[in-house]
Amino acid sequence: MTDNVKIAPSILSADFSRIGEEVKAIDDAGCDYIHIDVMDGHFVPNLTFGPPVIKSFRRWTDKPFDVHLMIDPAQPFLEEYADAGADIITVHAEADKHLDRSLQVIKGLGKKAGVSLNPHTPESVLAYVMDKVDLILVMSVNPGFGGQSFIESQLDKISRIRAMIGDRPIELEVDGGVNSATAKAVVDAGADVLVAGSAVFKGDDYVATIQAIRDAYSA
Ligand code: DX5
Ligand code: ZN
Repeated sequence: MTDNVKIAPSILSADFSRIGEEVKAIDDAGCDYIHIDVMDGHFVPNLTFGPPVIKSFRRWTDKPFDVHLMIDPAQPFLEEYADAGADIITVHAEADKHLDRSLQVIKGLGKKAGVSLNPHTPESVLAYVMDKVDLILVMSVNPGFGGQSFIESQLDKISRIRAMIGDRPIELEVDGGVNSATAKAVVDAGADVLVAGSAVFKGDDYVATIQAIRDAYSA
């Protein structure tokens, strides 16, 4: 069961002065996805990178780009992120007045469509889009920064969403405060993709930091 759990290091905690090499290093260390946090300084109180920077990562890895859009609005930019090489495009339910339409646009671009929920957002917003999503991203911190503490109340939400998913082919990703101390509870609750930023990039040996997370949930 835990053999299927994927690790998606968030490059938000990488060394930005040599970001391409960092992307290659997590690829070499055996990550499953490259989690790319796009922030607009409006939906979240921080700024990161946009499509041209994401496009430049492709020469360093063939792994799927898991693009987490923390931007409002997202819909006018979806095609640009698809063209930049995103494989999964995740929008926030709170940033999108027309979530169903955005999901259709993403799928129409030939990409996997994700929906993210902030910690205060109930899982009920997913009820009528379950047939259009490929991935659900539960934020277990308030988005904007790496290195925050896991919000325990999200474990219950993860379990409830796992039940909603049933046997649909939808990935359940959890993002924020995931590390070797919290990973087991997150996987036990039903997550199958773990985003980890500071927990992966805290050391120099990314094989070891990724393995520590895998060991924690496999225990
Ligand atoms: C926060 C981002 C996360 C962040 C996680 O808004 O979405 O992906 O990088 O960082 P850690 O794993 O350090 O909590
Ligand atoms: Zn993220």
